[in-house]
Amino acid sequence: ASVVEHTFVVRQVKMTHLCKETLATVVNGQFPGPAIEVTEGDSVTVHVVNQSPYNLTIHWHGVKQRLNCWADGVPMITQCPILPNQNFTYRFNVAGQEGTLWWHAHVSFLRASVHGALIIRPRRGASSYPFPKPYKEIPIIIGEWWEMDLLKADWGIKQHVIDAYFNASTINGKLGDLYSCSGAVEDGYLLDVEPGRTYLLRIINAALFAEYYLKIAGHKFTVVAADANYVSPYTTDVIAIAPGETVDALLVADADPGRYYMVAVPNQSPLPDPQSPTLITRGIVQYSNKQRAADGGGRPSSDIPVSPEMPDQHDMITSFYFHGNLTGLHHPQHLEVPKHVDERLFITLGLGSICRGGQSSCKRSENNESMDVATMNSFTYQQPAVATPLLELHYYSIDNRVLSMLQELPDKPPRVFNYTDPTLIPPGPKEAKLEPTSKATIARRFRQGAVVEVVFQGMAILSSESNPMHLHGHDVFVLAQGEGNYDATRDVPMYNLVNPAVKNTVFVPRLGWVAVRFIADNPGIWYMHCHFGFHLSMGMVALFIVEDGSTVNTSLPAPPADFPTCGHDHNVMSN
Ligand code: C2O
Repeated sequence: ASVVEHTFVVRQVKMTHLCKETLATVVNGQFPGPAIEVTEGDSVTVHVVNQSPYNLTIHWHGVKQRLNCWADGVPMITQCPILPNQNFTYRFNVAGQEGTLWWHAHVSFLRASVHGALIIRPRRGASSYPFPKPYKEIPIIIGEWWEMDLLKADWGIKQHVIDAYFNASTINGKLGDLYSCSGAVEDGYLLDVEPGRTYLLRIINAALFAEYYLKIAGHKFTVVAADANYVSPYTTDVIAIAPGETVDALLVADADPGRYYMVAVPNQSPLPDPQSPTLITRGIVQYSNKQRAADGGGRPSSDIPVSPEMPDQHDMITSFYFHGNLTGLHHPQHLEVPKHVDERLFITLGLGSICRGGQSSCKRSENNESMDVATMNSFTYQQPAVATPLLELHYYSIDNRVLSMLQELPDKPPRVFNYTDPTLIPPGPKEAKLEPTSKATIARRFRQGAVVEVVFQGMAILSSESNPMHLHGHDVFVLAQGEGNYDATRDVPMYNLVNPAVKNTVFVPRLGWVAVRFIADNPGIWYMHCHFGFHLSMGMVALFIVEDGSTVNTSLPAPPADFPTCGHDHNVMSN
């Protein structure tokens, strides 16, 4: 195993899209940022040089950070942020994991432009993949192009004062030919393929705002992994991918040589804001034409590419089945599902309302008095007001202080009702139908090694969105999903305890539920949150704290010697 070293210089650069010069905060001048490519077991060292005007952390999405919670990159939870003009070096290893992960900023909405792929190849080389060895591996990062300042957009959504929306969807940073200005069309992503060859697409949804459907006209995909865990090969002509998820899929260039559109369409809840346009992006898969090259042409044919027929942008069923069709593949890295459960949580994901001024009651219908927040079991997350990151307080066992700041996330919602009854969707302006909500630093503490089962229940009162729930520091087994309300008597017998898919970001279907199990075996304080940027900024977050039982949390090593200090600037934008 070797050490793979990168330097990430984060700064604002001018980029021009849609006839407009925009200041984008990016790594090494690139959007998306550089891919980190490693071999399983390697150590990764990333020197982050913060030349941006923002406080910053980088999260290594899906890396388990075993006994290394310090490197998880959550501001004021695991570390002080890297202040402007400061540097910090992240060090971690990727033992026991292989496949496609990614990295992103974990401050405010900055991850929309500060992100990149993290690719972990097997130690024994590509021939040890549990699928035919691909000719080439291609990262496909679906993202968003934003003209609005990302911190302003986040703040506006939190406070409900501005309608923040992105301006285009992107594939590998390219907007594509559906976007134009002043008569010119934008370049799209171009993938050159050779007839008959097999390509491994490593697909990442780095967007803040939408799930996507991805299709390539005239081709099918064979899905072979998701969230850096192998799955039983599954052939489909459409991939559904929610923010935070990754999908590895084989693409065989077996169509008639030609040009084919690769299209990504955002999949949104049924009633989008009529103001928000459908921001589709497309690139082109192009067969190399040896004959034309021999004729001295060498240029791609100017034929109009073939278009795929896309699912409707409000089609939630295709995504439901795509996720439900993923099953785990038995493999040396593969773990068995624990058959017993130590702790059970039932977590509703909804929308609530709190008083802007923090008072305990106010007029719900008055927007200037109350505001909407995203909830778990009727709590919405509040970033703790601390001068030292919680993990440091915890590590140095100033534990009572930590404990006094936390509110236990209850193991079930305060009130049982028909969660998915559409009549619960408040008509027009939000009314008192929203759940009464408290704002607190919600957390759940687990004994190290505990087997935890969580059922996430989507609710109609979250304007019917799906929720990709991401747990830091752990992978989870996805046992079952369903539409409507979860019913243990009916649903537990349906659990897949044989070969469930293993994920770090779990898709909770719109108006449905998902049941997962995980082993809380990694001491630390871990974020658990929805990976939609706006749900995260509206408070759909809880802390999962894994403790080894001793008063001093001895199993965690000391923090890195060069760890950032918080200085006097605690004005960190949370999440
Ligand atoms: Cu990819 Cu806490 O996030």
